Amino acid sequence: MPLQIAVDGPAGSGKSTAARRLARELGLTYLDTGAFYRCVALAVLRRGVDPANEAAVTTVSAGLNLSFLPGAEAEPDRVFCDGEDVSEAIRRPEISRIVSLVAAYPAVREKLTEQMRRLAAAHPVIMDGRDIGTHVLPEADIKIFLTASSRERARRRWRELETAGRAEGLTEENVLAEIEARDREDSSRAAAPLRQAEDARLIDATRLNPDEVAALIRAIVTEYRAGAKRPKYWYGLD
Ligand code: CDP
Repeated sequence: MPLQIAVDGPAGSGKSTAARRLARELGLTYLDTGAFYRCVALAVLRRGVDPANEAAVTTVSAGLNLSFLPGAEAEPDRVFCDGEDVSEAIRRPEISRIVSLVAAYPAVREKLTEQMRRLAAAHPVIMDGRDIGTHVLPEADIKIFLTASSRERARRRWRELETAGRAEGLTEENVLAEIEARDREDSSRAAAPLRQAEDARLIDATRLNPDEVAALIRAIVTEYRAGAKRPKYWYGLD
């Protein structure tokens, strides 16, 4: 098996920033798994399907062809749904509001989980999400659970939205309410809920900047390389 690094945690904890950076440094394939769930939510919304209708949402998700292209250097990642670049569309607030609902459906999760596992079987990966260490890649070589206070996560997400020009009509308080609602839904669902894997390393990033988070994860990788638990495969790390 190629090397696997799982980065899980609640909304806005900085998982994708850290994972993207580590992927470049270590020569790993990066996958933002939340982007796929967002694609399902976008397709549901565009087709006028009721997100509360599990059977209809499952049918929509089963027919989607999804791909993820990590951006080179400072370029943003690109997400494609049935050949269309939906990278911007999936980040809109109306998607964030319904994504946890569609992500709770077991059949939706099964389809996406299968695609994630196929990628991990073929390439050394770093994936970020909610259930990577607990469910998608339970045998991952390194598991990180990245969190921060909800206030701090809302502040960061709000800044991100503002910078991207997507904050129109929103306040930091709205963003806080949205991420707290999503965290609650993600943590309480029956299928692969958000939780820290027993063998995951916890990083609380409330007072850490992205450089400090990356340095901590780098140190965990270095420790892993030197430690008794040998990676299953050295790919990309030598
Ligand atoms: O970037 P942000 O933290 O806002 O969330 P995301 O990573 O884009 O994920 C969006 C949503 O997809 C989450 O709130 C979960 O409901 C769902 N998700 C999931 O259920 N399992 C994953 N492995 C990744 C995301």
